[in-house]
Parts: sequence; C-alpha cells; structure tokens
Amino acid sequence: MLKDKVVVLGVTGGIAAYKGVELLRLLTKAGATVHVIMTRSATEFVTPLTFQTLSMNPVHTEIFNLISEQEIGHISLADRADLFIIAPATANVIGKLANGIADDMLTTTVMATKAPVLIAPAMNVNMYQNPIYRENEERLRTHGYLFVEPVRGMLACGWEGEGKLQDPAAIFEAAMAVLTPNDLAGECVLVTAGPTREELDPVRFISNYSSGKMGYAIARAASRRGARVTLVTGPTCLDAPWGVEIVPITSALEMRDAVLERYASSSVVIKAAAVADYRPARRAVDKVKKSDQPETVELVRNPDILAELGANKGGQYLVGFAAETESLLENAAKKLNGKNLDLIVANDVGQTGAGFNVDTNIVRLLFRDGRVEELPLMEKDDVANVILDRVMEGKG
Ligand code: CTP
Repeated sequence: MLKDKVVVLGVTGGIAAYKGVELLRLLTKAGATVHVIMTRSATEFVTPLTFQTLSMNPVHTEIFNLISEQEIGHISLADRADLFIIAPATANVIGKLANGIADDMLTTTVMATKAPVLIAPAMNVNMYQNPIYRENEERLRTHGYLFVEPVRGMLACGWEGEGKLQDPAAIFEAAMAVLTPNDLAGECVLVTAGPTREELDPVRFISNYSSGKMGYAIARAASRRGARVTLVTGPTCLDAPWGVEIVPITSALEMRDAVLERYASSSVVIKAAAVADYRPARRAVDKVKKSDQPETVELVRNPDILAELGANKGGQYLVGFAAETESLLENAAKKLNGKNLDLIVANDVGQTGAGFNVDTNIVRLLFRDGRVEELPLMEKDDVANVILDRVMEGKG
C-alpha cells in the first residue's frame, strides 16, 4: 500500500513515545520506508535501537552528527519525505514549530520539508487546554499542518481528560488518507456490510456467515480516497474504519430504514451486506422453552432493499453484490438487470479464497453494458479499490 513512500517519523519525549514503535510497525508493514528522528528527551523513554531495528534505518538524534549528516542529513531527509509524522508531539515541539525555532534535528528537518506534516499531540490536559498551546496549534493549522487530535483518557500524570495520544491505528489511518490521492473527494458513499440477524426470541436468531470484511474494506478505501462515508453494518467483530460514520443495525428491516433514510443524500451506494431474505413470522418476547418449541418455524420474506433502491434511483451510482454457488454470471446478470444496478460484484462463495470470512476474494464485475471484468484472487482491500475505480469511471 505504501511501497515507494518515504515517511519521516518524529518521536518526542513523552510517556507515549512507546506508541511510536507501534505506529512504525504499521507503517513498515504497509510497505513504507521509515526514517525516525528522536529528540534527546524521547531517547529517555525508548531507546533509538528499538526504532532502528524495526525501521531498518539509522535513527537520527543529533543534528551535528558528522557521519549521519554526511550520509543522510536533515535537508536530505526533509526532501525525501512524502509525509512527516510527529507522534507523540509534546507541547514543547509544537511551540517550537509554531514559532520558527529550529534547534535540533527534528525541528530543523520539519522546517526544511515541503511534505505534509501530521502532528499527533500528547500532553497533560491542562497543557492541552492552555491558551498559548491552543494558539500554537491554531497557527500551525493555518499554515497547513495537519493534526490527529488526542483523546480523553487516564493520562500518565494521573489526570483524567483530553491529552492522551490517539491510537496508533488511527494515526496510521490519517497518514494513509494524506498519502492516498483524494479522487473521491465530494462523493457521499453509503456502504452496507455484514450479516443481518433475524430474531426468533431474545437469545436466538437466523443469520449467515458474512464477516463484513468486504464492506468494511470498501468503506475504509473510500474514506482514504477522500469520500464522506457512511457504513450501515450488521453485527461484526471488525474495528470501525477510521473517519467513517458507523450506523449499527441488527435486522434487515433496520438496515432498510437506515439505508432509505440516507439514500437521497448519497452519490454512490454499495450494498455488500448479506441481508437475510427471510425473518421469523413471530418473535417471542420471552425465551422459548424446549417444551413449547414448535416443530416448524414460520418465515416471512424480508424486503429486498437493493431492489427498492434500484426502483427509486435518482443520480446515485448503485453497486450490488451477488453471492452465488452456481451459475455465477447468469445469476449475477439477472440481479444486475432485475434490481436496476450500475454494477454488480459477483463472487462464487464456494471457491477457496473467496466470499465469507476470508481476507481475499475472487470476483467478477458485471457492468450495465454487458462488459464482464474478471479479477484474480486479491486482497479484499485491493478488490475494494478496483470497485471504487470502476465506480468513478462509470460516473464519468
Ligand atoms: N439484498 C438486499 N436486500 C435483501 C437481499 C439482498 O439489499 N433482502 C442485496 C445484497 O446486499 C446484495 C444483493 O442484494 O447486494 C444480492 O444479494 P444475494 O443474497 O446474492 O441475492 P438475492 O437478491 O437475495 O437473491 P438469491 O437469494 O435468490 O440469490
């Protein structure tokens, strides 16, 4: 994902410095080349060796180190960076940057870079609310510096409040959003994901094996590419994608309400959810006992949400999914036309590496004009990006 990208990670002296290690891991795992600069006080919290080992690059701590300056000095690092991240960033470093003070390797390099700078502050709540700090942050923002705000929590100093470093995964997502071209800016993308649950009584339900992974990958990719994304999701074990509005639902009827409410304001709708086609005709208020369990459960049809969207289509670009175990293309084409879709993503859920509960998928894309595009076995994140590419091409 981040191959060919160079990230310079600045780590400053706070107890959260150890979380910089986790962020480094996420960046290198995504393929980025990372160079770490530590302030002298950061080295009191975590050793440079940790960052050096994990980044596989020398860690810079001193500006006037002749050898490292000759090999890769501060100007060279500043020029090479596609993105600069400072995490954690203390009030001190933010104050220095806001006032043009460049007195160590980190502040000097940041001042010399033309790359975007993403700052993740971490400090005591009173420092964070101090008007001088606020002015410094504001000043940097007006000059285009980007911030990943801290969260509320128990702070290392014993106080409870705002000032805790954002989760490294969230900082990573913010970095991804900066490094990904914003070709979906201005789009409002509505995605559905996961299974629905149709309750029989308070402890039992009918559902399916959907994990939600495909829909979450689409929501995450669209958000990284600059869209405003709403994810209507059935119950899953997945973390909410950063920057995405989450609307949790349980049943097909709840999903229908949530989707219809947001349909008019959406420009793209992608229905990756595995909606249960039937629900029990009656839901018992109390748990059904063994003794009074009926021998058959009467089911009634759920509304076909996607068909309803297709029938009431305005300017939206409508994408459906077809999970099939036989006659894949024929069944998918029927759904594409029957539900008035612009694109359908067909997957043979019987194939190894495709469908429910795996990180990969093998899909075919069927377009309105009869074209069929066959994609090889791919990571769901990559499939998500191809779907979004085709959506943008189709929208023209
Ligand atoms: N879908 C929906 N509402 C339903 C059932 C399905 O919106 N009640 C959507 C799914 O989100 C998916 C598409 O319709 O995008 C196709 O779902 P799928 O289960 O493959 O097909 P069905 O239309 O339900 O047809 P069948 O069960 O006969 O294969």
